[in-house]
Amino acid sequence: MVIIIKHLPHSPTKSKWSFPDDFKFGVATAAYQIEGGWNADGKGVNVWDHLTHTNPNFTIDNSNGDIACDSYHKWQEDVQMLKNLGVDFYRFSLSWTRILPQGFSSEINTAGVQYYSNLIDELIANGIEPCVTLFHWDSPQMFSSFGGYYNPIFVDLFANYARIAFKLFGDRVKTWITFNEPKVVCQDYNEFVGLINEVYPNGVIEYLCTHNLLKAHAEAYHIYNNEFRAKQNGKIGITLNFEWSEPASTKPEDLEAAEQRRQFEFGLFANPVVYGNYPKIVIERVAHKSKQEGFPDSRLPKFTQAEQLKIKGTYDFIGLNHYNSWLVKASPEQPIGEPSYVKDVGTERFVDLSWEDTEWNGKIAPFGLRNSLQWIKTRYKNPLILITENGYPDKTGTLKDDRRISFLQKYLNATLQAIHQDQVNVKAYTVWTLMDNFEWAQGFTIKFGLYHVDFTNDERTRTAKKSVEYYGSVIKDRVV
Ligand code: GAL
Repeated sequence: MVIIIKHLPHSPTKSKWSFPDDFKFGVATAAYQIEGGWNADGKGVNVWDHLTHTNPNFTIDNSNGDIACDSYHKWQEDVQMLKNLGVDFYRFSLSWTRILPQGFSSEINTAGVQYYSNLIDELIANGIEPCVTLFHWDSPQMFSSFGGYYNPIFVDLFANYARIAFKLFGDRVKTWITFNEPKVVCQDYNEFVGLINEVYPNGVIEYLCTHNLLKAHAEAYHIYNNEFRAKQNGKIGITLNFEWSEPASTKPEDLEAAEQRRQFEFGLFANPVVYGNYPKIVIERVAHKSKQEGFPDSRLPKFTQAEQLKIKGTYDFIGLNHYNSWLVKASPEQPIGEPSYVKDVGTERFVDLSWEDTEWNGKIAPFGLRNSLQWIKTRYKNPLILITENGYPDKTGTLKDDRRISFLQKYLNATLQAIHQDQVNVKAYTVWTLMDNFEWAQGFTIKFGLYHVDFTNDERTRTAKKSVEYYGSVIKDRVV
């Protein structure tokens, strides 16, 4: 089935609406990107510690997150920065191996627990709600010896870790995110996962990873639901990344191509969580290609009936990370050969050269955020949506970050349009990120922060950029 989404106009830059009273503003970070203290006080090694230590060339500046922003020591300062911004909530992630050094729940590191407990208390004391991501890519290195994400045992290991986190912090944490961007872990970071596991994933193991992470998400949801919800009364969901696919033309095949991409990229994860199974088009295409490739069964694993029932409806909200948009058109199928997710997705994407550039990899196309929100509303029964990341990258880290301000203004405006014109149930916006930090393979060369961090100084001095004032005023005045 092809559903046609109308091409919405680019957002104007003056806001004629304001954010409703129950709409919340926040900023996000992730443990490996800011904490440092990579082996402090009993923390165990995670895949990023291992990867950057054994393959320093993996990052373009040969850097790693050993110290990063040193938030392991400077968390009180971080909370003051948040307070200065006036945010309603702070989204951060737990480092699994800081709490469970080997990854297994047999050994708990009390110093690690204390670190997060202090941070949570300090946030609450300053009127800031903690929003916690359980998994933002830094899984225990120990698991790599038995295949990490590809081993179905990952489901139980994650579930046990989640239970411990709910038990330790759930009295104070009321918003939980199980996984951050599972697509990046399973489909995009091929090279990274390959380096860790000494194999390169292909169209088989990319789906195995997807399958395990989805099941792990569902398990954690049910643990929260059955063992903690009544007492703790919080919400739990998953954060998915969505790069908007806009049809390159009104030709039926391009409309279909754009929808195919959305289903493979977002639906692959959202559809099971909402409806219990992979999108029809994904099931059919992978089965068809697998057959042509000579596989006896589809490379896409099947959920049993019981698993479908278990995974269906495992969300209180859908977390949306949105950065980028593309034009998509139909393209001839690639020849049968090495199976791959990319070939399964098919289609061709490119950018509209008239869209304004960011300073790294991406274009400024705020209509993509609005369309993503509207698409999620239509496809997934008008769920509660939290925008859990959106932000602007530059290379200089300039304090006069007018381009970041202009970006935020446009995307906040698109959010307002989604609320007021499209009646999307979106209740939060989160800027990536509080401060410049370790941007994965880009090391410290790409900066998304509202605060500048001086990485040449042992103090890791933080300085507010102009955007702090801007975002602070949006939060206070509730207009863009
Ligand atoms: C997201 C990721 C963040 C951050 C951001 C900017 O995909 O969740 O950790 O790196 O991209 O590139």
